[in-house]
Amino acid sequence: MGENVTPGAGRAAGDGGIGRRAVLCGGVGVVGATALAGCGGDKEKSTAELKGKEIAKVSDIPVGGGKVYGSDKVVVTQPTQGAFKAFTAVCTHQGCTVGGVSNGLIKCDCHGSEFKITDGSVQHGPADKPLKEYPVQVKNGGIVVT
Ligand code: FES
Repeated sequence: MGENVTPGAGRAAGDGGIGRRAVLCGGVGVVGATALAGCGGDKEKSTAELKGKEIAKVSDIPVGGGKVYGSDKVVVTQPTQGAFKAFTAVCTHQGCTVGGVSNGLIKCDCHGSEFKITDGSVQHGPADKPLKEYPVQVKNGGIVVT
């Protein structure tokens, strides 16, 4: 609403672009391997990029659950009391940022993939690779990438 979008219009290349990519993300592998890196523009952060950074507060992470932090593209979980885990929030399917954590699972709303909060492994496809895990430790009430 409010935007002037003309679906399917074949105007000159280079006008917009963001809208077209969003459409491709919902498509069925039209762009093949390119979709893996480009879909949604989400990019997984390397451990080096986050090293030393406090990515969450201990008090914000529920036991048996977790929280997604979109700015750092991480999801932090606490499978059992006092045990914290951090994973990339970039879905290994087509690169959407996962939507949230519930019932012990990290869920991607784009196509329904689910990953375990304990180790990031795939519980439900279409994703077939686990979420990358970041090493973390608790420091002064914060969860810090090491
Ligand atoms: S991008 Fe397809 S399920 Fe996450």
